[in-house]
Amino acid sequence: KASERESLFLVSEFARDYFQQQLLETSTGKAIGLSYFKERGFTDETIKKFELGYAQDEWENFTKAALQKTYQLSFLEKTGLSIVKQDKKFDRFKGRVMFPIHSISGRVLGFGGRILKTDKKAAKYLNSPESEIYNKSKILYGLYYAKQSIAKEDNCYLVEGYTDVIQMAQKGIENVVSSSGTALTPDQIRLINRLTKNITVLFDGDDAGLRASLRGIDLILEQGMNVKVCTFPQGEDPDSFARANNPIEIKAYLEENAQDFIQFKASLLVAEAKNDPVKKAELTRDMVVSIAKIPNPIQQEIYIKECSSIMQVSEEVLFSSLAQINAKNQ
Ligand code: CTP
Ligand code: MN
Ligand code: MN
Ligand code: MN
Ligand code: MN
Repeated sequence: KASERESLFLVSEFARDYFQQQLLETSTGKAIGLSYFKERGFTDETIKKFELGYAQDEWENFTKAALQKTYQLSFLEKTGLSIVKQDKKFDRFKGRVMFPIHSISGRVLGFGGRILKTDKKAAKYLNSPESEIYNKSKILYGLYYAKQSIAKEDNCYLVEGYTDVIQMAQKGIENVVSSSGTALTPDQIRLINRLTKNITVLFDGDDAGLRASLRGIDLILEQGMNVKVCTFPQGEDPDSFARANNPIEIKAYLEENAQDFIQFKASLLVAEAKNDPVKKAELTRDMVVSIAKIPNPIQQEIYIKECSSIMQVSEEVLFSSLAQINAKNQ
């Protein structure tokens, strides 16, 4: 089985090299793929560093090339790079720019492929399916590039997408990883927890981003980590924001706007509840449920006090609610 895993890595790394060569050395790759990345503001250095590529808009270019190099069809199929249907073989990725997804040690596990024309009905991103080497819930995009910087800065920025990681790194902020649009998992948080106790969640300035950040927070708290949240103006994401600003401006924005999770969540809930007492009670409970996830009781107490002042609810009520929830969780 160890050799099968190695075979899947090797075929994925052949694909990485192939897509990269298509991007940099073919006329359509340059005209379509490379110019797309350039339009997004990516430099040659960034494109090389992240091993970005291009899959031609053809049926079987990649699969043919791989078979010619004697990579086995079964491995091409298991990584999802090729699709076999009634003896016919197709490339999974067609007419897309390619983002290789690396393990923490830099092996290629899979790909995200972005469509170029957004008017098409197809999904904006197509990703590799899960395989023996690619388990979406256990990897974070960009961690291979970010790990040293995360340890050095003692903080990890968590973003939604591939291009957020890349654009921020290009602007000199390298301690950035992405959950790649999927809900954050405990395994992904553990990967960060080994390097730092501090996470700053930078989700997109839209409702989906807000909901995703709220869901992720409780899981991070459960692992005893410190969470901050920084939001972006409506319609902006870390990529667009980083692209439009210089490194000093970006760092200043992140520092000024990173809120402790308690301030972030409590003020969000207060705004939502308005003056409806029933709603307010419900949301206060929601807040205490988050605080109850924190393993350290001293930290819980600090947060309860803070929550009381932001939400205008007495500490006594919050502490008794916390005691109730803690008892249930025992
Ligand atoms: N995603 C996905 N499939 C989709 C849409 C999104 O897998 N159909 C994942 C991708 O990993 C993407 C992330 O969710 O990077 C965030 O989605 P979104 O914010 O919509 O995309 P961006 O990363 O902002 O991509 P772009 O700037 O290229 O539009
Ligand atoms: Mn989004
Ligand atoms: Mn986005
Ligand atoms: Mn977007
Ligand atoms: Mn974007």
